Amino acid sequence: MIRIQNLTKTYDRNTVVNDVSLTVDQGQIAALVGTSGSGKTTLLRMINRLVEPTSGQIHIGETDAATIPPHLLRRRIGYAIQGHGLFPHYTVGQNIAIVPQLLGWKPAEIAARVEELLHLFQLDPGQFRDRMPHQLSGGQQQRVGVARALAARPEVLLMDEPFGALDPVIRARAQADLREIQRRLGTTLVIVTHDMEEAVTLGDRIAVMDKGVLLQYGPPAEILTRPAAPFVEALIGKSERPFRLLSLTPIADIAEPGSAEGPALPPETSLRDALAECLWNGRDRLAVEGGGVVTLAALQARAEGAVR
Ligand SMILES: Nc1ncnc2c1ncn2[C@@H]1O[C@H](COP(=O)(O)OP(=O)(O)O)[C@@H](O)[C@H]1O
Ligand SMILES: [Mg+2]
Repeated sequence: MIRIQNLTKTYDRNTVVNDVSLTVDQGQIAALVGTSGSGKTTLLRMINRLVEPTSGQIHIGETDAATIPPHLLRRRIGYAIQGHGLFPHYTVGQNIAIVPQLLGWKPAEIAARVEELLHLFQLDPGQFRDRMPHQLSGGQQQRVGVARALAARPEVLLMDEPFGALDPVIRARAQADLREIQRRLGTTLVIVTHDMEEAVTLGDRIAVMDKGVLLQYGPPAEILTRPAAPFVEALIGKSERPFRLLSLTPIADIAEPGSAEGPALPPETSLRDALAECLWNGRDRLAVEGGGVVTLAALQARAEGAVR
């Protein structure tokens, strides 16, 4: 759990984060969204004290973040940034092992953790452990960056526009993988994005920032249907709002009788994720857990209906 109370950061006379309060529950994802310069990165970096607050408090679980040395705090908090930040002269395995090594884990424990994380991110350890970062695709580098941030089982993971450099198709896939892994590990996650669609896809809660002020904080459905301020409305974009609602509709709503090959998707999977799955794997129908199928044709019809 992360509890932020009346957090403010002022540079000279310029207040870039202004009296922000919000709580992220254990195991939830909070997406910080806002235009460039709205204070998202500064807010995120105050959580692990890469930036020291001017005033206000942050609690990580029961710990007041101001009361423990920053380097100890950061061992409990994973941090992943755009462009992955891998060390170019370390192998994939060595990159992932950095924080566990700092913490004095035994070599066998570290090796097992590296192996586990590579499996989790669908990178075959035999093939990838000893590669150098430049021998990976952009998407693979990004996955290793996130695996490294999770290596020491942090309570909290902070991500600053982690998928900003990825192309849109891989990006949708990366988002889906991140969410699945986050759910499995139960990590509390704060992710910064300037993309409302990414915020809706990933966030259990969305925090909308403008000029250092938190304008609205709530579940995606609330932000989309009851935007609290004209700025939030503008950020959502009236014309695209129905399309974004695809992210909120489960495939159970459009399932038809029938069967399909391949693994079945949980009925709560969003139309958007199902569409990405079809496009990613070149499939035209997907099985739904508990019976039935969802077809590419039905997904496309809903997507077209939504943007009209
Ligand atoms: N170290 C700093 N010194 C002075 N101003 C800063 C510093 N870091 C950020 N700012 C200013 O704070 C504002 C918010 O920046 P930032 O948190 O990076 O925004 P975002 O991540 O939303 O784009 C910007 O106007 C930026 O210029
Ligand atoms: Mg930023």
